[in-house]
Amino acid sequence: MRISLNNIERSGVSMRHENGLNTAAVLHGNFQRENAPSRPYKLIHISDPHLSRQYYREHIKSLKLLLRSILDAGCDHLVITGDIVSTADPDDYYLARELFASYGLLHSGKLTVVPGNHDIFGGPHRAVEVLSFPQHIRSVDYYRRMELFKEAFAECFDGAEGLIPGRQFPFVKKAGPFEILGLNSIAPWSLWDNPLGSNGVLDDEQFSALENLGTEKNPEAVRVVALHHHFNNLHDDAVQNSLWHKIESRTMRMKKRRKTIRLLGALKVSLVLHGHIHRNEIYSRNNLTFACGAGAVCDDPNRFLKYNEILHADSDTRISMVTLAYPYQVSSVGVSQHRFRSVRSIPQFATGGAG
Ligand SMILES: [Fe+2]
Repeated sequence: MRISLNNIERSGVSMRHENGLNTAAVLHGNFQRENAPSRPYKLIHISDPHLSRQYYREHIKSLKLLLRSILDAGCDHLVITGDIVSTADPDDYYLARELFASYGLLHSGKLTVVPGNHDIFGGPHRAVEVLSFPQHIRSVDYYRRMELFKEAFAECFDGAEGLIPGRQFPFVKKAGPFEILGLNSIAPWSLWDNPLGSNGVLDDEQFSALENLGTEKNPEAVRVVALHHHFNNLHDDAVQNSLWHKIESRTMRMKKRRKTIRLLGALKVSLVLHGHIHRNEIYSRNNLTFACGAGAVCDDPNRFLKYNEILHADSDTRISMVTLAYPYQVSSVGVSQHRFRSVRSIPQFATGGAG
């Protein structure tokens, strides 16, 4: 069943653009048992914290502040869609582990993670590395790095059902009223197709496994996809034809986007959570709702901490983008309780049943 777009509301800080920052959406679905009691369930989404002892120590502090604020406001389950670390350094994986554990998040019931390209390949962080990185990346053992990622966050995969024997992705995990599909969108290195490791794709095995999954596994659940790569385009006209746009189209793309979106539509996915482009945004493609959370702690020009909140209560699920009135990279301590929100409506697939 497809629910039409309606009831647009907006409030809070000014919008960057129609599909831009500080938006939220109300999702109406019939995914709940009639007369079943329920309590509100809050899924939180962030992405791309890029933890690095060597290069981005400020991100460590920012993520701590963000997590403190998220937990203070209430969080049943946290989804992080990749680039947890920036250089693929295993020591930074363990920094992240310690940090999540210190907030009581390092277990499957509380935290879902999927890999980003920086978790597997790292990236250039100094000017000199821009030249050496294309050579360095050839020596990266993609499959070994993927194993290290899985080992580092092993507790987060407990109880998740893998859809391909012997592989971690894709997996299905229940989180309250949500069914999370965790996907690996990190494409292996290729001189022509993925020279910097930053392009994404769902490989054929994952496609087949998802096609076989169908729509009736957890028919009353709200189906949410978590993966790293993006489906949105740059909206700022000034950059549409810029060098950045050309670089993005060559080295920062989700390949087979249309085919992937068609698959997710057929699977009656309600919401796709992703990262990769360092900004927060809620947008629609082909009546699917997407939320990017990659501006959580870094690179956004307004330099405020952000997260996406997906709240399920009674028979409604609402997604909103929350911008804290607290900038990162400041020296003061404590987290402001002030939050900006605004709302817009989007279509949703109700889950369950074929057709
Ligand atoms: Fe990133």
